Amino acid sequence: MTAHEPTAPHVPLTGVCVIAAEGIDRRACRMLLPDTPGAVGWSQLLVAKDATTGSIFGAAKSMPVRAELGNVDLRIAIHVPKPYRRRGVATALLDHLATRARNDSVRAVVGLLEPQERDAALPFFASRGFRCVDRMTTFESKVEVMADWLFERLAWLLERGEIPESAQIVPLREAPIGPVAELHARSIAGTVPQLEAFFTELARGPDGGDSVVLIVDDVVCGYHQYEFRGNLGTTHALAVTEHLRGGGAGSGWAGLLLLADRVEECTRRGVERSRYSCLSTVRPTLRLAKIFQAEVVGIGEYLRLDLA
Ligand SMILES: CC(C)(COP(=O)(O)OP(=O)(O)OC[C@H]1O[C@@H](n2cnc3c(N)ncnc32)[C@H](O)[C@@H]1OP(=O)(O)O)[C@@H](O)C(=O)NCCC(=O)NCCS
Repeated sequence: MTAHEPTAPHVPLTGVCVIAAEGIDRRACRMLLPDTPGAVGWSQLLVAKDATTGSIFGAAKSMPVRAELGNVDLRIAIHVPKPYRRRGVATALLDHLATRARNDSVRAVVGLLEPQERDAALPFFASRGFRCVDRMTTFESKVEVMADWLFERLAWLLERGEIPESAQIVPLREAPIGPVAELHARSIAGTVPQLEAFFTELARGPDGGDSVVLIVDDVVCGYHQYEFRGNLGTTHALAVTEHLRGGGAGSGWAGLLLLADRVEECTRRGVERSRYSCLSTVRPTLRLAKIFQAEVVGIGEYLRLDLA
């Protein structure tokens, strides 16, 4: 059987219970659903187990994500090992998550399928009523092209006095972590305690200087979670505080400064390409992708299940 061939339904498993993952179950959950730097702040970890023997049949995790119009959706990820598939395990995990989400007045459950997961997982999500509502496009641009435009634009903004003299960019390991976690939770996704733990570990690790924080008058006003790997740099998250965002009257200098800082570091290290992703609703990033003559290197499906 090939990886993408649909599996045949089997007799549903009986005696499956879904519980919060604690202790050794948490480790199992993390093994089945390893964290990636692009999605951080998972707050709820669940396992589906045999109520009698304790054998683990599958795992799920979830976190709140900021949606349009200030709403909060629940992002989920589920994994069921091959021997237990088509026996209702993922359905049991999803039902548990959806019931809790409804009780918390969450309006929708969302999932992001990476290109490599699409064929195997889409039939499950479609059968549970999820609809593809958007696409997560991953772009790559030449650092040289980004640098040309960004440095010219920043020089123009500096000349116009848009960038305050007190604005400074510092490595994550030298910045206060709490406000960075709060900004991420408020702007992107996740819950503050989990994000604080993630950013503290990132700051202490060998790559703690790859991500940077914008500080203006001693206040955290933005950050850029970045990663260098070989000839590629990747933006995992970039957020600036509400009053410094572009669009409307704002020039967007804060986001551009954070981006230019990492592009400059790419140039210094001889890294030639930079990667970034966004949904089709994130117009500023799409506009930059056009200016940066980006190539599309991947498209993921963004799925949604309305709970109303
Ligand atoms: C996607 C996944 C979680 C489904 O788990 P599962 O426990 O097999 O799902 P269920 O048994 O609850 O399936 C419910 C229904 O979904 C549909 N379905 C699930 N997998 C299917 C497949 N491979 N082909 C066709 N339909 C499928 C069927 O309608 C099924 O009902 P049926 O078996 O009675 O016909 C599992 O295949 C998996 O872990 N894949 C790898 C990880 C992944 O890609 N996760 C998604 C990203 S978050």
